[in-house]
Amino acid sequence: MSQATSRTVYVNGAYLPEEEAKVSVFDRGFLFADGVYEVTSVLGGKLIDFDGHAARLKRSLSELDMAEPVGTDELLEIHRELVARNGVEDGLIYLQVTRGAADRDFAYPKDATPTLVLFTQSKPGLAENPVAKTGIKVISIADQRWGRRDIKTVQLLYPSMGKMMAKAAGADDAWMVEDGFVTEGTSNNAYIVKDGVIVTRHLGTEILHGITRAAVLRFAREAQMRVEERPFTVEEAKAADEAFITSASAFVMPVVEIDGAALGEGRPGPVATRLREVYLDEMRKVAI
Ligand code: PDD
Repeated sequence: MSQATSRTVYVNGAYLPEEEAKVSVFDRGFLFADGVYEVTSVLGGKLIDFDGHAARLKRSLSELDMAEPVGTDELLEIHRELVARNGVEDGLIYLQVTRGAADRDFAYPKDATPTLVLFTQSKPGLAENPVAKTGIKVISIADQRWGRRDIKTVQLLYPSMGKMMAKAAGADDAWMVEDGFVTEGTSNNAYIVKDGVIVTRHLGTEILHGITRAAVLRFAREAQMRVEERPFTVEEAKAADEAFITSASAFVMPVVEIDGAALGEGRPGPVATRLREVYLDEMRKVAI
């Protein structure tokens, strides 16, 4: 599937060629989007912030009363085995856990065995993405997702629609707005910078608690940068000096335009540029 050669994929204890990797049509991930996921990046063959992703996975599962398919040590082994078997130098590992297969019923089945699937996406030069030098453009759209965005579920249709709305408008991504305030990007957390202060929405059920967000805010505070975790409006964003997004796949990515209005000088700003460097340097040092 767009990768040059057949990958080895993990499905419920087995390492299989991707053509043979299958789950049941009765799987609740397929029927109800009753599943959660994680995306972990790989740089130089090593996992970036595995512990953060493993901890968030545990929390997502527990919020949905879903069983943990394997323990954290085994999960790490599976990640490493997939990186090795697929020869991934730079790229991503996608992991999904669903409640498992059961006859279709809205009520959770009592003893379903969770489904665990992992696959890799090789992306050579992921950290050297040239877009980081020019920045991305975003549009604002209404946030029409469900109310538990802190759980990393596989219900991603609205974020997909948002991405398509952005593309149709000639932009790269969309920032979602609820009650007048930006929640987050379609698949990333959103930040603005004004007079040296970094502003990003506070944690709650309205946004995903980004693993990259936690690390970037830690590095910003360590570097004596001022951080405010509070809601901000699109108007405030348009008047900001700079803006950026964070995610496991984009790391820190500068935003140079919001709804057609250029930010600052229309080029990536110094804060986003510095945080990207620090994030990549520091996270590579502790990658496992
Ligand atoms: N998305 N907010 C949303 C809605 C997300 O989907 C993501 C991640 C983030 C950033 O979280 P983290 O820093 O832990 O990656 C914020 C992943 C990358 C994806 O769906 O591909």
